[in-house]
Amino acid sequence: MVNQSVLKLAAEEIAQANLLVVLSGAGISKESGVPTFRDAQDGLWSRYDPQELATPAAFRRNPDLVWSWYMYRANLVSSAAPNPGHFALAELETVIPKIVILTQNVDGLHEQAGSNDIIELHGRLGRWKCFANCRGTPTVIDLAQIEYDAEHAPKCPYCTDRLRPDVVWFGEQLPTNALDRALEVAQQCDVMLVVGTSGVVEPAASLPQIARSAEAKVIEVNPEPSMITADANFFLQGKSGEILPALVEAVRAQA
Ligand code: OAD
Repeated sequence: MVNQSVLKLAAEEIAQANLLVVLSGAGISKESGVPTFRDAQDGLWSRYDPQELATPAAFRRNPDLVWSWYMYRANLVSSAAPNPGHFALAELETVIPKIVILTQNVDGLHEQAGSNDIIELHGRLGRWKCFANCRGTPTVIDLAQIEYDAEHAPKCPYCTDRLRPDVVWFGEQLPTNALDRALEVAQQCDVMLVVGTSGVVEPAASLPQIARSAEAKVIEVNPEPSMITADANFFLQGKSGEILPALVEAVRAQA
């Protein structure tokens, strides 16, 4: 059970914020049936090796394996729906002046829930691009326009290279525009709400510290302490699908 007095104090901070930045991770989508990466029992990286599936070198070694894994994940996510945590964040836009969501998630569920200003730091499942970005970064290809199957990485229609998912892999840079805007709003925000991330993957993991250094309050929602917890002003322990609706209700009561 979340500590009600901490919840109320966190709600007071949010109610007074002109700019709230949310940093979300895989945990916010867990209650939508989308697996996280590092949960010991059912996290993706406990069952699959990221070095075989989520690096440019892995794709070069075995493009069909990587292609079929991302096809499988894209299918899984296409049938997932936002949960009360995503909806609570979308509703919060009607209560406070400005919210920007920085998400490490590639599932599109914040958008489906109705949030308006979302920066996708790690790309998007179900969007595909040329590995060589032969027509500019990114060279996004609409699969409806080409022939392909779920087991073989198809060729780019413009060059000889293959198509890959438009997500950020280990060892790759984040999309420049997304990262620049994330750094900017992290420095400008009054409150950063960090939800469902282990805080181990850079540069996203450093955004809460950047916000703290710029005098923002950091509020964390997570069932378990994370690498962010020591830097948080308020730690709301529990599932985001339960805590976020309660938090938004408490913010409404302040406003
Ligand atoms: P992780 O899998 O590392 O962490 C998930 C976090 O969600 C953990 O801290 C859990 O305690 C928490 N969690 C679990 N259930 C939750 C719930 N119901 N409500 C709220 N939180 C819950 O996922 P990320 O931190 O998002 O990168 O991982 C960061 C990046 O690592 C991902 O974007 C991905 C991965 O490799 C790329 O694919 C580039």
